[in-house]
Formats: sequence, structure tokens, C-alpha cells
Amino acid sequence: MSEDMKVFENLESEVRSYVRNFPTIFTKTKGSKMWDKNGREYIDFFSGAGALNYGHNNEKMKLALIDYITNDGIAHSLDMASDAKAKFLTTFNEVILKPRNLDYKVMFPGPTGTNTVESALKLARKVTGRTDVISFTNGFHGMTIGSLSVTGNSMKRKGAGIPLQNVVTMPFDNYINEQNSIDYIERFLEDSGSGVDIPAAMIFETVQGEGGINAASFEWMKKIDTLCKRWGIILIVDEVQAGVGRTGTFFSFEPAGIKPDIVCLSKSLSGYGLPFAVTLIHPDIDKFAPGEHNGTFRGNNHAFITATVALDYWKDNQLEQNIKAKSAKTHAFLHNLVEKHSKLQGEVRGRGLMVGVSCAVKGLASRIAAQAFDYGLIMETAGPEDEVFKLFPALTIDDETLEAGLAIIEKSIEHVLKKETQFV
Ligand SMILES: Cc1ncc(COP(=O)(O)O)c(C=O)c1O
Repeated sequence: MSEDMKVFENLESEVRSYVRNFPTIFTKTKGSKMWDKNGREYIDFFSGAGALNYGHNNEKMKLALIDYITNDGIAHSLDMASDAKAKFLTTFNEVILKPRNLDYKVMFPGPTGTNTVESALKLARKVTGRTDVISFTNGFHGMTIGSLSVTGNSMKRKGAGIPLQNVVTMPFDNYINEQNSIDYIERFLEDSGSGVDIPAAMIFETVQGEGGINAASFEWMKKIDTLCKRWGIILIVDEVQAGVGRTGTFFSFEPAGIKPDIVCLSKSLSGYGLPFAVTLIHPDIDKFAPGEHNGTFRGNNHAFITATVALDYWKDNQLEQNIKAKSAKTHAFLHNLVEKHSKLQGEVRGRGLMVGVSCAVKGLASRIAAQAFDYGLIMETAGPEDEVFKLFPALTIDDETLEAGLAIIEKSIEHVLKKETQFV
């Protein structure tokens, strides 16, 4: 470890994680590039774990924010009325909800992904008067007790230090080969002897980000939606990581043709990496009493400013077209890579620019990601055993940078496979 990294070892908690995978001090960033203290350039295929879908320091958002701050615009206002909030709400309604024929009230639950998930679970329980929630294998929803209770990862769950209750985990799409998880779930709901009560809600990610880039089929999502309607169960779709264009459309559930009762959004919603979350609630279940779910940081006005500018990207279909083209290029590259390097025992996963390659050989994905960092690419791993290396380039990345990043991945794979004697 270099001398200047010791400050983190000495002063920061043991819980730190990404700093261990990317051990350098970053000083500057723009678009899809980051630079460290030594002037070394990195391509960013991490995008703040999905919080920087429009890249770093987007020029338009930056200028709007500087202008707002320079003019002494409101920074903090809890959930009082502010001009910035009014503009965000109106623009979000006009640009995102109305054209998609979606009818939602917008709740500001607190600034992070876990805040929106907590509010969704609480609301579903309040509205239905039921206690249990069905979650899915390898789901990830956050680190506070409620969201952790619907998260699958055993290491993270253990961190709670108390039993995580009132949750039943069911198999996600394709969790068990050749077993239809819908029939399985339905059987539990139908059978009064199954031991599973009708839950308040079901919560899922359309593509599981932390859980290993597992993409549910549109058919599976539709069937879950039908199940929820049949049993009066609130359907919560957690769009915190898969939303805001990551899979190719603003909401990742759009191509499935479903309209969840509650949608959780955060990460890239502010567009600029500023903490910001919303919980979208169908008006029929907008039942929290005033202040019943509260919080000091529910009105991040700086995020309202950048989020409103970010919505410019959704006023036409240019960004969607770009994501499609870049996603096709990335998927084709990875399929070819997996075929060429059979020793990877790789499987390409995901949708849009939410992509991963699962490697059957234990530890291989992590070694590839570490090697890629040495070669100047920032890329993380996912899955219960970190068995997937995960590509999250900015949706706005240019072709040249995308190709350069993909080339680093190939070079890293070649290097790692060559080094590992069992593959020679
Ligand atoms: C799908 C999903 N939900 C919720 C969260 C929690 O978000 P936060 O880390 O902002 O609390 C995450 C974070 O990665 C996520 O991927």
C-alpha cells in the first residue's frame, strides 16, 4: 500500500470497502474518466454503483447548480415548498410519468435508496394491515433493518445483529433450473396449509444489481404482477439500481408492460451523484398521514436542480437510442469474449448497459476486476460469491472510451488466465 493510502487505514473504519478495491486517491473526474493524485487516468465502468448514469460532472447540470448556489437558492428545506422542488415535480410529471401513462404521487422519503425501500415496505404494511413481505433470492434492497430484511446476501444480513423477520424469500426467475417459480409461489399462496400468509407486498428488482446481474424475463414480471393483483398484494419494484435508463428505458419495468403499485427510485435520479430518492405511490394507496414517515433530508434542493436538468435527456429518444447501440456493442463483445476464452466458463448476463459476466471459476471475476484496475479500468464485482464482473459504463459514454474499456477487460482476462497455471 502506498504511503498516502495509509490515512484511510489509520483513520477510517474497517467497514470501508470500495477504497480497498480501488486503492488510489482520486482527485478529478469528468464524463467517463477519473484521475488520481499521480495523474493516472482511469476509465470508469462503475459509475458510482449506478449513481452516475450520465457520467461525472455533467456540464449542464454543473452550471445550473453553480448558478443556483451563486444566487443563494434554498439548499435545505425539509419538505417545505421551494421553487426547485416545484420545478422538479412538474418536469418529472410531464417528461417521465405522463408520456408513460403512469399515475403516481411522489413521496420524498429521505436521500438514499434504503430510505425509499423502507418507506415502501412501511406503506404496504399500513395499507394492507398485513405484516409479511415476499422478497426474492439474491435481491438487494439496502442496509437498514427493513430493506436488509428483504435482502438475500447472508453476510449482509448477519450484520443486522437481530433476526430479520416478517419476510418470506421466494425463488427469483431462473433461480432453480427448470422450475417455474411462479407456480411455486402461487402454490404457497393458494394453500392455507403452506405456512405462508398472504403478504402485504412483493418486492423485486427487474435486474438484480448486487445479486449478480440476474435479469427477470418480462413474462415472469407480468406473472408476478398478475399474482399480486389476484391476491391484493402491493407490488413494489425497486428501481434504485436498474432505473433511470440503466437497462435502456427510464424505468426498467416498462418493456414488461407492468405498472407497479410502488416504485423506489434513487441513485442516478439526481443525475449528478447528489443524494436523492423518491417513492412513487399509486394515488389509491397514498395513505401515510402527514409526517407519519418523516426525515430531515427529504428536500435536497441541489438535487432537485440537477435532477430537473437531467430530465432533459428524456425529452426525446436520443439517449434511449444511444443506450441501445452501446448495449448491443457491449453484449456482442462479451459474448464473443466468453466464446473465445472458454476457460472463463463465462455467462453474459443483464439488459441494456446493466451487464455482467459470471465466471464459474471461484475468485476469477474478482481477479479480473483487480487486474483491470491495474490496467486503468474501474469495474466492480457482484453476486453472492463475487462471481460476476460487472460493467456499468455511463449511459453517455462515447464509443472510443467504451471500446477502450472493453479492450482493457479482454487484456485483463488474458493476463489472469495466463497467470493461473491450472489454465495453461
Ligand atoms: C436495488 C437497490 N436497492 C436499494 C439500494 C440501497 O441504496 P442506498 O445504498 O442508496 O441506500 C441499492 C444500493 O445499491 C440497490 O442496488
